[in-house]
Amino acid sequence: MSSNTLDFEVTPNERPTPAADREAILANPGWGQHFTDHMVTIRYSAEKGWHDARLQPYGPIPLDPASQVLHYAQELFEGLKAYRQDDGSIVSFRPYMNAARMNRSARRMAMPEIPEELFVQALEVLVRTDRDWVPGTPGYSLYLRPFMFATSRVLGVNQPSQEYLFMVIASPSGSYYPRGIKPVTVWLSQNYTRAAPGGTGEAKTGGNYAASFAGQAEAVAQGCDQVVWLDAVEHRWVEEVGSMNLMFVYGSGSEARLLTPALTGTLLAGITRDSMLKLAPDLGIPVEEGKISIEEWQAGCESGEISEVFGCGTAAIISPVGAVRGPDREWRIGDGEPGEISMKLRAELLGIQSGSRPDPYGWVHKII
Ligand SMILES: Cc1ncc(COP(=O)(O)O)c(C=O)c1O
Repeated sequence: MSSNTLDFEVTPNERPTPAADREAILANPGWGQHFTDHMVTIRYSAEKGWHDARLQPYGPIPLDPASQVLHYAQELFEGLKAYRQDDGSIVSFRPYMNAARMNRSARRMAMPEIPEELFVQALEVLVRTDRDWVPGTPGYSLYLRPFMFATSRVLGVNQPSQEYLFMVIASPSGSYYPRGIKPVTVWLSQNYTRAAPGGTGEAKTGGNYAASFAGQAEAVAQGCDQVVWLDAVEHRWVEEVGSMNLMFVYGSGSEARLLTPALTGTLLAGITRDSMLKLAPDLGIPVEEGKISIEEWQAGCESGEISEVFGCGTAAIISPVGAVRGPDREWRIGDGEPGEISMKLRAELLGIQSGSRPDPYGWVHKII
């Protein structure tokens, strides 16, 4: 046991989900609705550091009403998946990137960093215990949700909590596209911004998501699927779509190149985004991190210079954008079908995750 890992106290669930019920859930898991039989908890205090690591039955946790998280939202989370590969092994994808991102979020939220080895150990302990919950259906996975929040029992706002709880829960997830991949229509929100310079946009903290629900509801009210987040100052520079990073394909075929908004501090540094930026050049598709305004986006689509646009993130891998709508403008991208470059990148990444393609990058992390 390295000094950065802990011994877990294990309490097995004495009433696990019956196998037949579990199999019924795995046949049609939906997204984020069902949870496995166990969870991980690890406590932190300023005095003891990380301690009291447990694997225990999944269930409610007692929380003092004065816990800081309930008042000041000192919280952060991560999201990644465990996949059952074609040879039966169970893997996760770049979990150390999630650990590093959680620690960057922790620094912004004045929370303690967790050793990366302990973060990954916690995932492994849970996945090994609940291995029967990792679906075998292609495109399905076990979504892992590590999160951490402030538990000090104090209402003072002058200092961050001195105590925290880190947890991991797991939820089987089905295909993001049960009826096949369909491009989405997105809404250019002028009324709401997700993140401002100096704020918490690049931290994966719950408050960013709480603040995004109204924008998403506005998008739906406008007949769109997702909201596009624009910069908070000029409301014209494109940042993200829903909870995904955005990629723009210029040109097509062997001339195609990718542009994605640069990480300015207001965007979340997606692990799928990073993977695309590494994969694409190896497939002969040059990439650039830069800036794109809504005017350039519209003009590029109308001239045909921009051939495809897609969101990318752990949940969907790639979500093609087919149409854009705003209060005073509307345009289409491509012919309403998923584009060639989007699908090529998706197939490549999915192939690495499922084990059907080689992994020259060492991204796949074997758990079992
Ligand atoms: C705001 C936001 N942007 C982008 C992403 C994509 O990140 P990843 O590729 O790590 O899932 C997510 C999802 O985690 C997100 O919440």
